[in-house]
Amino acid sequence: MGLMAAREAAEKWGISQRRVAILCGDGRIPGAERVGNMWVIPDNAEKPLDGRSMRYPKEKVALVKPFVKWAGGKGQLLVDIRKTYPSELGKSIKKYAEPFVGGGAVLFDVLSNYDMDAVYISDINAELMNTYRMIRDDVDGLINLLSALQTEYLPMDDEARKIYYYEKRDRYNELKVNGDSAINLESAALFIFLNRTCFNGLYRVNRKSLFNVPIGSYKKPTICDTDNLIAISNALKKVTIVCGDYRESRSFIDKDTFVYFDPPYRPLNATSSFTSYTEYEFDDTAQRELAEYVQELDKVGAYVVVSNSDPKNVNSDDNFFDDLYASQQINRVSASRMINSNAGSRGKISELLICNY
Ligand SMILES: C[S@@+](CC[C@H](N)C(=O)[O-])C[C@H]1O[C@@H](n2cnc3c(N)ncnc32)[C@H](O)[C@@H]1O
Repeated sequence: MGLMAAREAAEKWGISQRRVAILCGDGRIPGAERVGNMWVIPDNAEKPLDGRSMRYPKEKVALVKPFVKWAGGKGQLLVDIRKTYPSELGKSIKKYAEPFVGGGAVLFDVLSNYDMDAVYISDINAELMNTYRMIRDDVDGLINLLSALQTEYLPMDDEARKIYYYEKRDRYNELKVNGDSAINLESAALFIFLNRTCFNGLYRVNRKSLFNVPIGSYKKPTICDTDNLIAISNALKKVTIVCGDYRESRSFIDKDTFVYFDPPYRPLNATSSFTSYTEYEFDDTAQRELAEYVQELDKVGAYVVVSNSDPKNVNSDDNFFDDLYASQQINRVSASRMINSNAGSRGKISELLICNY
């Protein structure tokens, strides 16, 4: 093993020499040593994830956690994502936007730990955003409906549960097609009920945009998590909830906004593809458009983090995101994911956390 100077590490990792010195001083680069007024670093040292964060304010508000299981949910990557939060979060940065909010693992982490002035969330999934709104605006009504569903469902045997589940699924789809499910308390309650009782908590729709996930096998699912719903309702009071495309966030975002983008992942291969959150696809053209939008926000001075899959897991020559985000910092973090749908096996793969600061 050889050694390199801070200047060489800075070049190799694409960050400033000053930043390398700070990371060394913080003890974040194993084996780094100070020689005179210089740092020397083992030449096989990995670039650490930028940890300019993790300084939570002393007073925490009530902890809130996602109310749905969501494909691509970021609960597991939260430890790494937190390390990318700008250190000014909750201080000079008092605005947060999450335009692909899904189950909101990062949203709820931010709401639980930082005092924000204004928060913006959006998603293209109308029923999901209706549920966020109903939790914010009529949590008591929602809890009444959910506790009735729970009281009826839990004592049933498997056969009765099956009949009940498919009846509720039909009703949910009927509201979607015939009713105005975008402003509907019943639809929100069914959305949570189906998420808690369906196979793997998946949300998937067919081409007609009807929810088509079969029943799951949870013995005692929590259908009505009253305390969490009330805590979420309070935390969402200052949150703007939008059903629509991520670009609608543009007028909210300014130089004091932290923006986290978690778009549908670019599929690594045909079997790992999961993009059916809605009837809309998120293909390579959409990924490129998102990168352009990130550039636009970069010019505004916003603090932006984007997550995505790492194509290099399957093809080391695939530079799709390295090219798209060439002017940003690209961090690779390790995640445990389903890697083979046939075997149902999980494995460690790398994922991307791209930062513009
Ligand atoms: C990877 S998931 C987000 C998961 C989320 N971070 C979590 O922790 O649960 C991506 C989300 O983007 C939404 N989506 C897809 N296309 C969109 C678009 N054009 N604008 C906004 N949201 C979109 C999907 O409905 C889905 O909920």
